[in-house]
Amino acid sequence: MKIFKLNLCFIFLSYFCVRAVDRANFKTCDQSGFCKQLRSMEKGNSPYKLLLNTLNIQKDSLQVDLLNNKNNVKLVLKLSGIRDNIFRLRITEKDPLKPRYEPAIGDVLDSEPKLESITVKREGQTVKVNLKNDAVVILDESPFSMQVLQSGEPVLLINSRGLLRFEHTRTKPEAEAPQGILSTVLSWFSNSPQPADDEVPVEENAENENHEKENKEEAEKKETDEEGVWEESFKGHTDSKPSGPQAIGLDFSFPGFENVYGIPEHADSFALKSTRDTDPYRLYNLDVFEYELHNPMALYGSVPLMYAHNEKRTIGLFWLNTAETWIDIGSNTADKNMLSKLATFVGVGSSDEMPQVDTHWMSESGIIDVFFLLGPKPNDAFRQYGSLTGTTPLPPLFSIAYHQCRWNYNDEEDVQTVNEGFDTHDIPMDVIWLDIEHTNGKRYFTWDGAKFSHSVDMINKVAARGRKMVTIVDPHLKRDDNYNVHSECRSKGYYIKNKDGNDYDGWCWPGSSSWPDFFKPEVREWWAGKFLTSEYVGSTHDLFTWNDMNEPSVFNGPEITMHKDAKHLDGNEHRHVHNLYGTLVHRATFEGQLKRDPNQRPFILSRAFFAGSQRYGAVWTGDNMSEWGHLKISVPMLLSHGITGISFIGADVGGFFKNPDAELLTRWYQAGAYQPFFRAHAHLDTRRREPWLFDDKYKNIIRDAIRARYALLPFWYTLFYHGEKEGGPVMKPLWVDFPKQKETFTIDDQYLIGSVLMVKPVTEQGSSGFRMFFPGDSTTEWYDIYSKQPVKTHGGYEFVSAPLEKVPVFQRGGTILPRKNRIRRASILAKDDPYTLTIALDQNGSAVGDLYIDDYMTHEYRQNKYTLRKFIYENNMLVNKNISPMSQFETKSWLEKIEILGMKSKPISVQVIGEDKSTRDLEFNFEPSKQVLTIRKPDVNIAQDWIISLRR
Ligand code: GLC
Repeated sequence: MKIFKLNLCFIFLSYFCVRAVDRANFKTCDQSGFCKQLRSMEKGNSPYKLLLNTLNIQKDSLQVDLLNNKNNVKLVLKLSGIRDNIFRLRITEKDPLKPRYEPAIGDVLDSEPKLESITVKREGQTVKVNLKNDAVVILDESPFSMQVLQSGEPVLLINSRGLLRFEHTRTKPEAEAPQGILSTVLSWFSNSPQPADDEVPVEENAENENHEKENKEEAEKKETDEEGVWEESFKGHTDSKPSGPQAIGLDFSFPGFENVYGIPEHADSFALKSTRDTDPYRLYNLDVFEYELHNPMALYGSVPLMYAHNEKRTIGLFWLNTAETWIDIGSNTADKNMLSKLATFVGVGSSDEMPQVDTHWMSESGIIDVFFLLGPKPNDAFRQYGSLTGTTPLPPLFSIAYHQCRWNYNDEEDVQTVNEGFDTHDIPMDVIWLDIEHTNGKRYFTWDGAKFSHSVDMINKVAARGRKMVTIVDPHLKRDDNYNVHSECRSKGYYIKNKDGNDYDGWCWPGSSSWPDFFKPEVREWWAGKFLTSEYVGSTHDLFTWNDMNEPSVFNGPEITMHKDAKHLDGNEHRHVHNLYGTLVHRATFEGQLKRDPNQRPFILSRAFFAGSQRYGAVWTGDNMSEWGHLKISVPMLLSHGITGISFIGADVGGFFKNPDAELLTRWYQAGAYQPFFRAHAHLDTRRREPWLFDDKYKNIIRDAIRARYALLPFWYTLFYHGEKEGGPVMKPLWVDFPKQKETFTIDDQYLIGSVLMVKPVTEQGSSGFRMFFPGDSTTEWYDIYSKQPVKTHGGYEFVSAPLEKVPVFQRGGTILPRKNRIRRASILAKDDPYTLTIALDQNGSAVGDLYIDDYMTHEYRQNKYTLRKFIYENNMLVNKNISPMSQFETKSWLEKIEILGMKSKPISVQVIGEDKSTRDLEFNFEPSKQVLTIRKPDVNIAQDWIISLRR
């Protein structure tokens, strides 16, 4: 093992051996040419003006030219109404020298957005656009700016700080002429787009021409003269930048808001921080070794989606750009002049002082393409985003249960021992994972001939216990002519090229590797074919997939990733598409599992992600550490992913690097049991940590945590079903359900699961309790799931105890929670098990809940083979009814027990009225001191209509 480690150390020097993040491997804004330039732009001096004589109004959009007064380059602005309270703003070059990159439909956007009509009115120097709801967009001619109002109040300002920047396409000059920079600059002008004569505004006549030319020269010089504009170097890597500067940037301010959220992935608080004294938040998918907490450095994935939330509304801003992006955030107060001007213009509004969040978005290339999600409620904004980029399809049940992973389970015997270990210790488990060492020399889709020579038998043995397996399939392919996946990919010409046109060659786990270009549909189709069991020899339909290192991670590349001047098959530079690469690996793998079996739901875990990745499955937060701080940060991190669509998300339980002590591991299991994707994982160098390797005290608590997860699977599964239908996270910040309660806006150490449970995992060493916020008002009840007692505080803080065996979880009054309490080896073995319903009453003695059931594995639910039940408890009656009349599904599961919490008095009798109207008296027990009524064995099928009635 030592020798092995030394070898890795030798081969992957900085990657493998440094014991903390090496910040020097990653650029700061100052080291990123375009970020440095755009960040230093002077505010309040926008050179842009709308050419209102070009205004072209259509039913659902308007288009108008935008002139940069300094360099005379023209842009085109298009504003469109999109269905469901969304509008889109696109700004691009009018006459680019070559097309600027825009992602294909289906790569980020799920489909072409559905347009909706708008009303446009020109009023002097402004254009007023009314969207379908009560939103109004005002465009000012000069300097160009936009304001968005909802119910007469300004909610969004665009270019109010004048930071719009659009670096037009130009030709790279030949080597600098000896007579100096001026002639070089002049030669560039000849290549710059010139406005057509009839489009030049009247006032820009010949008299001004000389002056303008000077301005233009100066502007051009400024934009192109900076170091790094035509070539950029970082740590010995040179980026040839064949297209020169192409950056875009724009400022957006949110008047009336104090908090913004989203733009994962960062190891930081949920409410985003001001970047005044730090770098901007960076979005650039990177493999960051031993990442640091609480800083805006980029991590493995990116979703350029931000929400602003206040007591009145939630709005979203989705910046559709797949290139490297930086976002500055500042808190401010809104400009009073602007407020009073707007108040006069629209007749309402206020000129009082109000808070404001200022943001500045900067991308290296592409176009400005922004969607504004106008909410107004949090769930509206989530649904709006889902309508653009898709939602997470209902995962197969096993994938939301518990996963056991480590780098590595060594051989078939090891796998079998772990498989049996869980049974011996009565701990449920659904999936055993194999990391890179299972392959023949890191050649994916192969097996190590000595250690995994009977892989089908091994998978079958695991599957015989109701379980599944996952193998890792990374996108870097070993450059070995005897490896058929590589030789096919090479001979078909499917690899990404380097700047000189040869197959891109970099270092990753297998040594010298190349990367398929997943942007091409035929490459994805080819890759998908590799998942057929005839191609992936030794696999079965019980084997699922893990896509890792897909940022992509290139150990010897700039910032441990691919060179930006690498070329995709359609000639696009990698720079334009970098943040999307990982998503397309995930997508091709998803398509592969569908190809293998179109009726079985795929399951794939990915490390890199972008907007839209949610369509392909789960994501995790990469290589965290066995430290309390990492456990703690997992909560805000997962919340940020969740609200930006990546709802099937988790963090390595136990921490990837280093060895957790028993307390940390136990607390991590307790947290993970209440997070969407629940997988334990550990680095190759760590000690084994299967739960039974710890003292009984800890093992038993870990077992309880996993069992609690299994008991609640019916609830999680129902939430994921709603996630597919309605979008939005399953793990939610408190403000989603308590949007008017300011205290909730910055709470990121407790959260909701659906609208039923509230959790605050213990993330401090030695903690045995803490104060917890109970949102709501005097009418809101929260019941401790252990004691079944309501907390005394309504809408405030209360101390809760959290001894080692307890993770504080509360059920909201007014909800009904389904559970399956039988202990099983794996989730599917509980398929026909009975249910227990926990009814937590609100102050009116009522509650509602629902339950979704299907076959847990196939796509037949899409042919209406499911049942969605609604439980309503009111007026002393529990009614179970089918709320999906078109659907049909039969289950053997019956109702075993009902617990009613907050029951004031003992009923005289309890009766069940069946579907056939027959009645039966039921046994019950009432605990007056606890106000808990337990009804035993109602013995009715859970998927039938029935009523349970309490007589008083
Ligand atoms: C990366 C992954 C980690 C995995 C390792 C080996 O570091 O993030 O989860 O175990 O590669 O494949």
